[in-house]
Amino acid sequence: MDWGIKNRLSRIIKKDGRTVMLAVDHGYFLGPVSKLEDPAKTIKPLLPYTDALMPTRGVLRNCVDASNDIPIVLRASGGNSIIGEDLSNEEITVSMKDAVRLNVSAVAFSVYIGSKHEHQTLINFAKLVDEGMEYGMPVLAVTAVGKELEKRDARYLSLCCRMAAEMGASFVKTYYCEDFGKVIKSCPVPVVIAGGPKLKTEYDALEIACDAIKLGAAGVDMGRNIWQSEDPVAMIKTVRAIVHEGIPFKKAQDMLKGLRKRSA
Ligand code: R5P
Repeated sequence: MDWGIKNRLSRIIKKDGRTVMLAVDHGYFLGPVSKLEDPAKTIKPLLPYTDALMPTRGVLRNCVDASNDIPIVLRASGGNSIIGEDLSNEEITVSMKDAVRLNVSAVAFSVYIGSKHEHQTLINFAKLVDEGMEYGMPVLAVTAVGKELEKRDARYLSLCCRMAAEMGASFVKTYYCEDFGKVIKSCPVPVVIAGGPKLKTEYDALEIACDAIKLGAAGVDMGRNIWQSEDPVAMIKTVRAIVHEGIPFKKAQDMLKGLRKRSA
């Protein structure tokens, strides 16, 4: 691996091989999603517990203080909206030149395997990887499913993660699923999990984080399950302990309860 890519990646994935990424890029197709209406306000208190932040360039430029020493994984795909016809119709939305100008540590691109625009997203992804190679920029592949949440099973996600890695992803973001170990075992690059839409309770999100880590995930890239939770700071602190200390689910539950009590 090229030194530049290695160096940038090491800012995101820490020495223990793990990372807590905070996803705040939702607005690129969802607009002002609940609790992210004012991104600066949402992001600021969570930054001290975040290893890498995943925004769009608009949120980065307008809502994140440039003096922060936080590695950025920049959303670089888009071109559709939640009210449009097809979420898979994405293209590259940020030039590598602008990503370098923003001094980001990686760019993120969604691939929609099995969708109407599978070919388009994969070819654009490969182009971004090629450009990344020129500039020493890692590319995160996001295995997106659009509105078809039921697609998220081990057979499908293993296919997506493996294809993304084969095509040059430095790391992959996917969903947690039953038999998640299968996804991890067949993917030769680090895998982080998204949280997906807010789960019923905070504990559900903690449980999938614990299981994913136990099965070999490199960490999380969670959004809604953190900043839409009742106490986002308590939630991210607990997720951090799961990711970096490997605390089990029961301990994570107790930790979140304790932190909540203290902040009440
Ligand atoms: C959606 O595609 C966004 O890119 C998010 O980054 C991703 O879904 C992770 O956030 P959440 O944990 O809220 O699903």
